[in-house]
Amino acid sequence: MKLKLAIQKSGRLNEDSMRLLKECGIDIGNGVNKLKAEATNFPIELFFFRDDDIPQYVEDGVADIGFVGENVVYEKAKKVEVAYELGFGKCRLSFAVKKGETFTGPSFLAGKKIATSYPILVQQYLNEHSIQAEIHEISGSVEIAPGIGLADVVCDLVSSGSTLFMNGLVEAETILHSQAVLIKHKNFSTEAQQILERLLFRIESVKKAKKNKYVLLNAPNDQLEKIIALLPGMKSPTVLPLASPGWSSVHTVIAESDFWDMIEQLKNAGAEGILVIPIEKMIL
Ligand code: PRP
Ligand code: ZN
Repeated sequence: MKLKLAIQKSGRLNEDSMRLLKECGIDIGNGVNKLKAEATNFPIELFFFRDDDIPQYVEDGVADIGFVGENVVYEKAKKVEVAYELGFGKCRLSFAVKKGETFTGPSFLAGKKIATSYPILVQQYLNEHSIQAEIHEISGSVEIAPGIGLADVVCDLVSSGSTLFMNGLVEAETILHSQAVLIKHKNFSTEAQQILERLLFRIESVKKAKKNKYVLLNAPNDQLEKIIALLPGMKSPTVLPLASPGWSSVHTVIAESDFWDMIEQLKNAGAEGILVIPIEKMIL
């Protein structure tokens, strides 16, 4: 059997979804611009849909799993399970107003016309703040609504902010933070589950690798103990003698998050010739 994976046809998540599969060593054959494509070296089949439709397709079992924004998962409220946070496609769902207008808080929205593709999430926000407003549901190009007099305010996804900027809108208030997640159909066969676990194992290795760097450095032997004490490493660092006497080469893995602090400390402790190398996969 093949696991059926739904991904966004075009848009913000498409490229990152395809890149992730590639980094997982999954080669996708031709047909990328059509509805369907097949992996040549992994039991997976790809379906390309509008992101907003993916939860429905996964609920119905047309696809077994999907890569989609949490924003769409919450809005559509379909019976699917969020199985994994993919870590890309970070964005937020925000109200935006016309440039020059000042958003004074939730009460600013009272009596206004709000254009959005997220009527459920927007209505929830309005209810929480006991605000009455008119929601105008639009499925795409929401950001042009104020300019053509269709709405006073929009509530739309913001990632880089360039869509808002180009349409003369200013982000006012965020109602939800979102990222891409892997969703799965409620009923899964053992075989499908096994394929999913193989896929998740690869995704996890790629994700871990991105968060870490491989570091090589030269250390004078009399400082070796001090330098090793600074290093985390997967188990412990590798230490090899250098050709020049009194020096060693130390290899280890450092988390991206404390990278610069660590490098400064290592330099202060006498480390030289520090090389930092990206890691492609990391299997623990
Ligand atoms: C969202 C949103 C904007 C764009 C914002 O679209 O509707 O068009 O991303 O990104 P920016 O802040 O980087 O400019 P989405 O990816 O959901 O595609 P869709 O509207 O076609 O579903
Ligand atoms: Zn969308």
